[in-house]
Amino acid sequence: MDKIIIHGGKKLSGTIPVSGAKNAALTLLPCALLTDEPMTLRNLPRLADIDGFQHLMNQFGVSTTIAGSRPEDFGRVMTLEATRITSNVAPYDLVRKMRASILVLGPMLARMGEATVSLPGGCAIGNRPIDLHLKALEAFGATIELAAGYVRAIAPDGGIPGGSYSFPVVSVGATENALMAAVLARGTSSLHNAAREPEIVDLCNLLVAMGAEIEGIGTGDLVIHGVPRLHGATYRVMPDRIEAGSYACAAAITGGEVTLAGARAEDMAATLQALRDAGVHVEVVKDGLHVAANGKLRPVTISTAPYPGFATDMQAQLMALLCRAEGSSVLTETIFENRYMHVPELNRMGAHIETKGRTAIVHGVPKLTGAEVMATDLRASMSLVIAGLAAEGETQVHRLYHLDRGYERLEEKLSLVGADVERVGD
Ligand code: EPZ
Repeated sequence: MDKIIIHGGKKLSGTIPVSGAKNAALTLLPCALLTDEPMTLRNLPRLADIDGFQHLMNQFGVSTTIAGSRPEDFGRVMTLEATRITSNVAPYDLVRKMRASILVLGPMLARMGEATVSLPGGCAIGNRPIDLHLKALEAFGATIELAAGYVRAIAPDGGIPGGSYSFPVVSVGATENALMAAVLARGTSSLHNAAREPEIVDLCNLLVAMGAEIEGIGTGDLVIHGVPRLHGATYRVMPDRIEAGSYACAAAITGGEVTLAGARAEDMAATLQALRDAGVHVEVVKDGLHVAANGKLRPVTISTAPYPGFATDMQAQLMALLCRAEGSSVLTETIFENRYMHVPELNRMGAHIETKGRTAIVHGVPKLTGAEVMATDLRASMSLVIAGLAAEGETQVHRLYHLDRGYERLEEKLSLVGADVERVGD
């Protein structure tokens, strides 16, 4: 297992290229199952989770080819061709490594009339059930069976008729599975209180490019008119709003300034507002965002919420930044039940954070000190890197595989803007 060694105190300065969005790519990839024609995705981030999903698609008999891109390029072009599906089962040993595998359930059901997926367990941040995925598919006419740790979805002869489902809570993955099932339904389907994240819009845009008929894109009320078949398409994955927000926090905490090339400001309004409230200068520029520290950091009070609210995936990174604010900030995590595992590690670096249930009170401190810390989940790992960039002395972040799931070539990108970071075998 690798680790990252950071010598903090360097102001970041320069330009960081923003990669394609992991959480968009992971729902765009399974769309290849919806057609027997080639589907090409551009700007795919080079991430462990993307490799894992590619391997899962290969398991189904989907051919995948990566167009020649120079190793030094960020992003890749992948063509997927599901001419013949040779298996409609997503096995335990693959799903347990990547819970986003559950996103093959809807499209595989739509294409094959039946899909079997190992139930994804919980993960570090919560038990993350999939009951809403299953309720939506049942509402569209599928039969759901649970047995031996697997879920099996079966369509009636001729395919699922479609139907209507109102989500009791907003769920990104359940919305995605329901959308990918409904596009090939025999009739019309509707979703209410659906997730509105930019990644959902990216999914809808790809499906429409493949011939799907979807109304209400970008809202919580979606109407999907099923079509008999979808054709191939070439589509560019949206930029990663969470990666961009993470590097914005890194620039701000070091007192530096960076341009986030390719960032799409309209996807990250709540993040940009939080940064501005904290006293960070944020400017939309031609090719992305310019972020600059602007004197002292101010405390903020913020709660995570479904889009367009403040993203739960940005909570840990903002918390790291707020460790250096003058005053106490109050963060409330409303989405996941256990998303404060970065707190004890940040406190070991000299932070002063108290958690009470879903609320964290971040008392700003004059400095952070480097330490050996342990990554526990993807975004918690990034918050430790952000703290390490500002801390005095050396920080070692262990268990880098967490970071590799969501940040393309992190140490190279940070080195581009002057950080003293090194990746070494652990
Ligand atoms: C997606 O996860 C993202 N992952 C997560 O990003 C992100 O944190 C999350 O959406 C919220 O924005 C991907 O897109 C691959 P949910 P997902 O279904 O779809 C509950 C990262 O760091 N729920 O919107 O699993 C659930 O427990 C990752 O990049 C049910 O109760 O999230 C949670 O409390 C982490 N039943 C809430 O809803 C269900 O059937 C939101 O979960 C589904 C979800």
